[in-house]
Amino acid sequence: MVGGAVAVQSIGPAAAAETTLRAAAAKAGLFFGVAASPNRLYPIVGQEFNQLTPENVMKPDTLATSSGGLQNTSGADTLVNHAQSNNMLVRGHTLVWHSQAGALQGASQATLNTFIGNAINRWGSKIAYWDVVNEALEDNNTGRRRNQWPHTMNRDANGDGDYFDSGDTDVIRDSFIRAKQVVQAGGFTTKLCINDYDVEGLTVQGGTPNRKANALYDIVRNYRQYIDCVGFQSHFNDNPNSIISSDLQANIQRFADLGVEVHITELDIDDDLSNNDIGSGQAENYRKVVRACLNVAKCTGITVWGISDSESWRSSERGLLFTGGNGSYQKKAAYTAVLDELNKGRTVSTSSVPTSSVPTSSVPTSSVPTSSVPTSSVPTSSVPTSSVPTSSVPTSSVPTGGGCSASVSVNAWTGGFVVSVRVTAGASTINGWNVRLTLPSGATVTNAWSANRSANSGTVQFTNVSYNGRVNAGQYTEFGFQGTGTATGLTPVCTAS
Ligand code: XIL
Repeated sequence: MVGGAVAVQSIGPAAAAETTLRAAAAKAGLFFGVAASPNRLYPIVGQEFNQLTPENVMKPDTLATSSGGLQNTSGADTLVNHAQSNNMLVRGHTLVWHSQAGALQGASQATLNTFIGNAINRWGSKIAYWDVVNEALEDNNTGRRRNQWPHTMNRDANGDGDYFDSGDTDVIRDSFIRAKQVVQAGGFTTKLCINDYDVEGLTVQGGTPNRKANALYDIVRNYRQYIDCVGFQSHFNDNPNSIISSDLQANIQRFADLGVEVHITELDIDDDLSNNDIGSGQAENYRKVVRACLNVAKCTGITVWGISDSESWRSSERGLLFTGGNGSYQKKAAYTAVLDELNKGRTVSTSSVPTSSVPTSSVPTSSVPTSSVPTSSVPTSSVPTSSVPTSSVPTSSVPTGGGCSASVSVNAWTGGFVVSVRVTAGASTINGWNVRLTLPSGATVTNAWSANRSANSGTVQFTNVSYNGRVNAGQYTEFGFQGTGTATGLTPVCTAS
């Protein structure tokens, strides 16, 4: 290999090309799904796709009562049953959202938590992925959270820009904590996702940093212990923040590097992207999106937001893979491009390597979407159903030189507690950490997540797991544990390695 050459190594088998999207995707190790309504469960749904997202019938305006109960579940049941009989994964969409909130509009966190519990428990592991929080961040690339309900439930008491202090509330974190508790308590395999749009590239039009994507990244990093997956909606169009940027793959990769699965969740591509910085035709644009996902091992699924152009929520953009309607569909050039790209499988490109020895890096070749998400346990038992903390007491240790510092936030109830611990790197990047703290007499740790622990009582040492040992200077990661008894007076001491 000569210097500067591009080596493309095929990882998938070079066998005969598959003739459906789902078969080609499965061979490449990801799902290829579609959003659908109960009245559009035509044969094509099960033939071409192996994942199903309810376009509307699992939103709170259909499902939720004002007290967080369930109603009108028949449409959702129809979709879930259809998915099961066609061997398709289901993405539940969506639990906490400012739009289509229906009877939950204005609800408290306690009511949201009740709804989260009811919805997750009703379908259990039949739902592979739940969008727990949808569209938390505002438009126009500000990087801020929305100020609409439910995001007005965020409260940054001392205005320091985070939501970890005494008196702070955070609807994103609290909703994920609740969802994780329900999944753990039920023993479900369901993975919990955060989903948003205009977060796809590292940059938006003109090379401006994508502050919305950066804000989403910070949320996922900070709440990594509760979040298993990230959805990039990917409604690509002429909006300067909704373009297919050339750094889409790099952005997918940085989320994947946090250990979460990444999904393209609501893909449609305006067929006339005059404003799009990669230009070209719709089929080529589809190819680029599919390729960006295939090139990141933890990008485990792509979902298009509807079957055909005329039946799309944005029919004027003609953004989907088929024309036609009412069960009779014709494949577009975009369909052929997607199928062809999927059939090429996952490849790794080692470009511009200025030596003669181009690394032949290997990429996972599993033929099913791998859950690379750590299966650490998360608080389950004895948690009040509302999961509203009865106390939240942050305490800090004294920063230990250039190494790390740790602070704890305790949510306690009679007889039990959950402790969140934040590990912050000092002036230099750390590659591992150890947090030592002494529990009061009578307190016992029952489980911990995102950390290894040395003991269940007395002085306990928590050490990083594989994905959270490295913390950049001034940045932080979090782990947590649950226990019985009381957790007063905790003074964590952090040592970096
Ligand atoms: C859209 C549906 O496609 C429409 O039928 C409905 O009228 C409005 O919602 N982001 C989301 C989806 O997360 O739930 C939205 O779906 C599209 C944008």
